[in-house]
Amino acid sequence: MTDTQVAIVGAGPAGLLLSHLLAMDGIESIVIDSRSRENIEDTVRAGILEHDTVKVLTETAASQRVLEDGIRHDGIELRFAGAGHRIDFAKLVGRGVWLYPQHEVLRDLIATRLAAGQALRFETSATGVDADADVVRVATVDQSGAPGAITAEFVVGADGSRSVVRAFVTGATDSGHFHEYPFAWFGILCEAPPSAPELIYSNSEHGFALISQRSATVQRMYLQCDPDLDPEAMSDAEVWEQFRLRVAPHDLVDGPIFQRDVLRFRSFVSSSLRRGRAALVGDAAHTVPPTGAKGLNLAVADVLVLAPALRALIANGDQALIDGYAEQALARVWKAQHFSWWMTQMLHRQDSADAFGHLRQLGELRSVVDSEAGQRYLAEAYTGWPMPGL
Ligand code: PHB
Repeated sequence: MTDTQVAIVGAGPAGLLLSHLLAMDGIESIVIDSRSRENIEDTVRAGILEHDTVKVLTETAASQRVLEDGIRHDGIELRFAGAGHRIDFAKLVGRGVWLYPQHEVLRDLIATRLAAGQALRFETSATGVDADADVVRVATVDQSGAPGAITAEFVVGADGSRSVVRAFVTGATDSGHFHEYPFAWFGILCEAPPSAPELIYSNSEHGFALISQRSATVQRMYLQCDPDLDPEAMSDAEVWEQFRLRVAPHDLVDGPIFQRDVLRFRSFVSSSLRRGRAALVGDAAHTVPPTGAKGLNLAVADVLVLAPALRALIANGDQALIDGYAEQALARVWKAQHFSWWMTQMLHRQDSADAFGHLRQLGELRSVVDSEAGQRYLAEAYTGWPMPGL
C-alpha cells in the first residue's frame, strides 16, 4: 500500500488543477509545496487567462469567481511609431481572454481542494525523488526540519522553474533548451483607474511598455529594463515619465505606486518531461517570457494531457497515453515558445540592432497590423489554441 495514488510536488496552478481533475476521476493525491499558503495566495503573478483555461476552471467548478470578478477582453492594442492598432480577437477568431490574476486562480483552487478534503501540505519541501520502481518515493522535509516521505504510484513535478522533480526526470536541474534575453520587465502596481479599455503592448524607441490592469482601482504596468535594474532606483515621477514616453501620444492616468518588482526573461524547455513513474508539468517543464501571457495557460494545457494519461495508467494499468504525454505536451509547448519569443523580439527595443534591425522590426509590426492573416495568427495564439478534451 502506498500513502496516496499520485504525489504532486507544487501547489501552483498546475499541481492544484491536476489534483482537482484527478479527484473528479476518483484518484487520490497528496499535494506538497515549500511555500506557505499565504505566500502562494498573495504573490502577484501574471493576469491573462486563455478562453479554454476559463472553460476548464468553470466547467469543472474550480472557479465561478473568474466569471464574476474577471474581466473579459476581446482584443489588445499594439502600438508602435506613435499609433495604436487594435487586434480584435472576437472578430478574428471568435474567442477572447479573461483578465483574472493568477493568485485569484490559486485562491479558488486551494479553497476548492480544501473543501473536498484534499491533503495539501504547505511549507513541506521535496528533497529527492525515486520513481524508477513501481512504488514511487518522495523524500520531504517539513517546516520544523523533520524529514519524511510520501509513497505513491506516480509523482508529478509541478514545482516550478527550480524543480526538484526535474532533477530526477532529466538527471540534472538545468538540462534542456535555454534562450536568454538581454532585458527584463520592471513591473508596478498602482492605485489608479484603467488608462485604456484593453491592454496596450507598446514598442517605442525608449523601450517596450505594457499597460495592463487589475481592477477598476488598481493597475499593473511594465517597462522594458535592464535585468540588473534596482526596482527602487527610479522615483515615481521618473517611472511615470518613462511610461508616458513609451505610449505617447496616448495619455495615462497615474497614481501612487505601491509595489515594484523586476521580472527576468528566459525561455526554457526541459530535455525530457517523463521518466518512469514521474512527469513534469508547468514551469518545471518549461518557462516562457511573459510577453505572450502563456505561462499559466501552458501549465493548464499540460495538465489536460496528463490527467487522462494518469487515469488510464492508474485505473486500468494502460501505459499508452502516459508514453505519449511528452510528445503531445511538447507540440503545444514549442508553439507557445515560438509565440512568446516572437512577441518578445517584435516588441522590445533591441539595443544591439543597427538601423536595418530597427526598421526591419517596424516592418514586422506592419506586416501584422496591415494583414488580416497576420492579425489572426496573433489572435489565435494569444487567445489560445484549443486545449485537449475541450
Ligand atoms: C499582467 O497583467 O501581469 C500581464 C498581462 C499580459 C502579459 C503579461 C503580464 O503579456
